[in-house]
Amino acid sequence: MMTLDEARALDAADPLRRFRHRFALPEGVIYLDGNSLGPLPRETVPAMTDMVERQWGERLIRGWNEGWIEAPARIGGKIARLIGAAADEVIVADSTSANLFKAIVAALRRDPTRQTVVTELGNFPTDLHIAEGAVGCVAGARLKAVARGELETALGGDTALLLLTHVHYKTAERFDMAAWTARAHRAGALVLWDLSHSTGAVPLDLAGAAADLAVGCGYKYLNGGPGAPAFLYVARRWQAALANPLSGWMGHAAPFAMEDRYRPATGMARWLAGTPPVLGMAALEAGLDLLLEADMAALAAKSTALFDTMAAIGDALGLECVSPRDPAQRGSHISFRHPDAYALCQALIADGVIGDFRDPDILRLGLTPLYLGFEDVVRAGDILGAVLAEGRHRDPRFAVRQAVT
Ligand SMILES: Cc1ncc(COP(=O)(O)O)c(C=O)c1O
Repeated sequence: MMTLDEARALDAADPLRRFRHRFALPEGVIYLDGNSLGPLPRETVPAMTDMVERQWGERLIRGWNEGWIEAPARIGGKIARLIGAAADEVIVADSTSANLFKAIVAALRRDPTRQTVVTELGNFPTDLHIAEGAVGCVAGARLKAVARGELETALGGDTALLLLTHVHYKTAERFDMAAWTARAHRAGALVLWDLSHSTGAVPLDLAGAAADLAVGCGYKYLNGGPGAPAFLYVARRWQAALANPLSGWMGHAAPFAMEDRYRPATGMARWLAGTPPVLGMAALEAGLDLLLEADMAALAAKSTALFDTMAAIGDALGLECVSPRDPAQRGSHISFRHPDAYALCQALIADGVIGDFRDPDILRLGLTPLYLGFEDVVRAGDILGAVLAEGRHRDPRFAVRQAVT
């Protein structure tokens, strides 16, 4: 197991070390939950102050023509650099859930002979719930949710869409994007990737994989703040053929022509529905600009090393790691299965180590290389070891479930 001295030496030599101080990480906290809600970048504070005080406060409605109206496309273009897409294939809009709905319905309406959405049982709940709602909105459509091992055989001549979450929210298992996209295409289906746990966490190449559609969160590895707007990717070859079912005025070809009839905009603009959340976009852009300063290969290499450090600690403590050991097959978090995972997570939080719990028995620790150090991981491991050794997680107060776990 790594010693504190070894950890400090690795931190001192870390090419990403300079990013840590760009975040307002609270004293006394080891934050292992950036895969759920990224911390506050220091630059976000003046960016938001400018947005609120100057842009909103002074410029008022003039702000729309001073950068606000372009924000969805501009910020989408920045996200494109992280996911291997062209700038005009990504737009920032709505939530991941809403974007899933738009993309699923659009895929179902593309070809009336293909009416099935195939997805994985145990996918993130909103993916399953939204898919259920989306098939309910298209006559004849149905949802086929199967275990991972049955996905390939579930694809067939009636499949409109294969909906997969690239990095699994619980286990961190990562699909081979190019291989699964090719399987969907061989069946004549489109593929929709949920990149919520992938964007800014692992290298992505949507173009290289020939992916059709993708969505993802702004508040995890992009550090865009709680409830940050999400993004949607539509490969250029599908942009004219697919229609946004939420045909709001912001996706109209000429929103301020105030026409009665809907005419979709060309390109990604048609995927907008209503007025963009400008305040949230400002925070997202600040987080994103910071992340874009970092080298994705360096992030991936450090994520692997942080994982190995935590995996060795888990092994030494006799914990069952449910995340793949092969870095090519996982994201940037590590998950341990433990019968008292909830209480363990609460006991860790009480000791300043913030991770999270996923029902029923998963302790999930985010290993975000942009701002975490090896010393953080080793210290968190020491605290985890002490909690387990002393049985502190058995304190009844740690068994009380809060609304957000
Ligand atoms: C894979 C995945 N999809 C979607 C979401 C959330 O979607 P929304 O931002 O609409 O709440 C999450 C949140 O953790 C997620 O892990």
